[in-house]
Amino acid sequence: MKILLLGSGGREHSLAWKIAQSTKTEKLFIAPGNAGTANIGENVSIQVDDFLSLKTFALEQHIDMIVVGPEDPLVKGIYDEFKNDEKTKHIAIIGPSKAGAVLEGSKDFAKAFMLRHNIPTARYRTFNASEIKEAFAFLETLKAPYVLKADGLCAGKGVLILQTLEEAKQELKGMLDGMFGNASAKVVIEEFLSGIECSVFVLTDGKNYKILPEAKDYKRIGEHDTGLNTGGMGSISPVPFATEEWMKKVEERIIRPTIQGLAAEKIDYKGFIFFGLINVEGEPMVIEYNCRMGDPETESVMLRIKSDIVDLFEGVAEGNLNQRPIIFDERTAVCVMLVSGGYPQSYQKGYIINGLDQVRDSIVFHSGTAFSEGKIVTAGGRVLAVSSYGKDKEEALRKSFEEANKIQFTDKYFRSDIGQDL
Ligand code: AMP
Ligand code: GLY
Repeated sequence: MKILLLGSGGREHSLAWKIAQSTKTEKLFIAPGNAGTANIGENVSIQVDDFLSLKTFALEQHIDMIVVGPEDPLVKGIYDEFKNDEKTKHIAIIGPSKAGAVLEGSKDFAKAFMLRHNIPTARYRTFNASEIKEAFAFLETLKAPYVLKADGLCAGKGVLILQTLEEAKQELKGMLDGMFGNASAKVVIEEFLSGIECSVFVLTDGKNYKILPEAKDYKRIGEHDTGLNTGGMGSISPVPFATEEWMKKVEERIIRPTIQGLAAEKIDYKGFIFFGLINVEGEPMVIEYNCRMGDPETESVMLRIKSDIVDLFEGVAEGNLNQRPIIFDERTAVCVMLVSGGYPQSYQKGYIINGLDQVRDSIVFHSGTAFSEGKIVTAGGRVLAVSSYGKDKEEALRKSFEEANKIQFTDKYFRSDIGQDL
């Protein structure tokens, strides 16, 4: 099979690594890819939302399947774009239709969907700029801290958690006045939930589904979850509190009603669903849906899937996912992210990365790297994901930290407390 994978981060490098292991993969292209994916397949310099160029390329190269990494092209409707065109509708797209991607693209839609299907989530209401009085009144009925969410996509920055009512009102006004442009024209205000988070991933053909290994990610820049939010500083799988009993609750109360709800609402969904969950005193509740895999969770989740992922993707495309086995690797997998000093605020790019050839016990996925004059250089805030297996998390983490220390670039930083809270 000829496969085109879209995206350029660590998530995509780890997906590429897994796709390349399949005996069904004849040729793998990555658009646009990075310096890491260039070693696994062929990078193509087309942006993920340039649908016209992607179609032309897919037809020229006889692509059979497109695997979509990030949310942007999904929310913009890449699935529909290919399926509504006689020339490209035969190409399998792993990723939901535009209507399905709204689960991530609109927090208001996602909340209303959960309410319709009786899926446990925080109590909420949605307001626009003309309803500021009602919004203030609703805030007054809640207890601190206050959770405000821009309805639309904000590259992970659209959620504010405020400690006082005064701040909450001020920020709410700012959001409705366009703090995040059109994305905050509507704001979801919800009850604060207290607990540990866990990311659960499902692959679905719209009717059948397979639950993938769960993972926990580490979002803050500083040790012990302090400082600013980032795109993710590390991940670990499995998650100890996601026991068989807890996962059974997740499946019965959250996963099954979600898949059945999508089908009942005639929403075409063939791809990944990422359930951002929180464990509230033993009960799973949904914080958010995403219509794609998580980053940096994928950089540990891919290590834990033993089965052929292209076989699973074929099941998604053909609607017979129930006939495809999924086998987990019982070992623990972790990912430690190496980032540019200064990230998530301003940082320098273009530093030469040394020591990659010294790594023995980890798999290094590139996140923000590029080639410059024949050398691999830093090209983003998150630079490399150092992923390892271990018989337990201690062993896996020890490997990742040891190997992380062999890799050198100016102002390299990583969190050395990944997994310590579990
Ligand atoms: P989201 O973009 O929806 O994932 O939200 C970003 C982060 O905000 C989540 O990962 C949680 O840590 C936090 N968060 C969102 N909603 C809530 C909530 N209702 N209660 C507590 N924390 C929340
Ligand atoms: N790790 C969280 C996300 O990918 O959104």
